[in-house]
This record gives sequence, structure tokens and C-alpha cells, in this order.
Amino acid sequence: MKRSLPEHAARFDEKAASYDGTKSPEYETCAGLVVDHADPGREDVVLDLGTGTGAIALALAPDARRVLGRDISDGMLSQAREKVAARDVENVSFGSGRFRAPNVPEGTDVDVVTSNFAMHHLDDATKRDAVDAIADLEPRRVVLGDVMFFGTPDPDEPFYSPDVDDPATVGVLADALTDTDFAITAVERVHEQVGVLVAERETDR
Ligand SMILES: C[S@@+](CC[C@H](N)C(=O)[O-])C[C@H]1O[C@@H](n2cnc3c(N)ncnc32)[C@H](O)[C@@H]1O
Repeated sequence: MKRSLPEHAARFDEKAASYDGTKSPEYETCAGLVVDHADPGREDVVLDLGTGTGAIALALAPDARRVLGRDISDGMLSQAREKVAARDVENVSFGSGRFRAPNVPEGTDVDVVTSNFAMHHLDDATKRDAVDAIADLEPRRVVLGDVMFFGTPDPDEPFYSPDVDDPATVGVLADALTDTDFAITAVERVHEQVGVLVAERETDR
């Protein structure tokens, strides 16, 4: 990875207070698609990885039984917890966790895993490990919105910083998912470098 986890966490600790004011239209579209495709049922437990200030987790809370938001940045998690307190939401909890060790309480069955604009901080080999860790949780559905390359990477385009970020091609992400138990059931292209992949466990389709 181009930065260690503590370095990524420190970067987001610094940005946390202003993060919610810095979203692009493509980010908003991507986040909306992640929420729409996640589509949890009333009994479902959702795990949102790289949850940041909780945009996806909080949007899904009204439809799910429980939502677990996980992140490596204490600063981002603090912002998310402030929103929970302000909105009096009872079925969302935010805590430390990373893609490869999401810190899901023992005995908790996760039904849907979401992640938005977060996995591109991992290099491709680590993304594979992350997808393996997600597959180990045996969710019914994974919805991954992120910076991802539909064509040739263009570092001059917005959405990622080549010095710290490591977006994958759509193919690399799709391969990682389909090499586990998942089949790709939807691909949304938001921009040449932003998209959403939806994957469902083959046994559940
Ligand atoms: C651009 S923000 C996106 C936040 C949120 N998902 C959203 O849609 O607004 C990326 C988040 O990923 C987190 N992150 C980076 N690497 C991570 C990792 N390995 N495990 C968990 N979270 C990570 C960062 O701390 C940051 O909060």
C-alpha cells in the first residue's frame, strides 16, 4: 500500500471535521447507488466498511435491523457518533475495524456488506485479502462503490491522488469477488473512474 494504515487513519483524522462538506456530484451519485443496491430487509444486519462519517450506515439504518460501521480513523468515527447522538438512532453503532479484520462481534450474522469510496486505499493484493475477509462473513450481498477504472487510469482526473490512493480496475475487483462465492449481479458506471459493483452469493440467488 502507498500509505500504512496508521498514515491513512491520520490523514482522515485531519480531514474528519470538514469531510462532509467536500463531496463531489459523482460521490453523491455513487453513495446513492450503494444505498439503493444494498436494499437491506428489516431483519438484516449491515456491515459498512470504511464507514467514515457514516453516510452509508446512517442512510441504511431505517431499513435494517442493525448497522455496524467500521473504520480505522477515530476522527471520522467521532463525527459519525455525533450524528447518531444528534439523530437519536438506536440501531447503528460505529467502531474500529478494518477491511481485513472488520471486528464483527462474535455470533453476529452479517447479511449485507457495503463500502463506499474506501477500498481504493488498499493495493490490489490487499483488496483481494479484504474481499476474502468479507466472504468469510458469508453475507448475502456485497455492494462496493468506489473509485475504479472502467478504462485507462487518468491520474489528472479527479477522485484519487496517485501518491496515496491505489484504485483498481473494474476487472480486478470483479475477479476478486467472483473468485470467492459471489456472482456480479450489477455494475453501475458513474464516471470513467467511479462505479458500483453489486455481488451476491451464488447459493442465495
Ligand atoms: C473517502 S472516506 C469514505 C467514507 C464513507 N464511506 C463515505 O462514503 O463517505 C474513506 C474512509 O475509509 C477509511 N479507511 C481507509 N482504509 C481503511 C481500511 N483499511 N479499513 C477500514 N477503513 C479504512 C478512512 O479512514 C476513511 O474514513
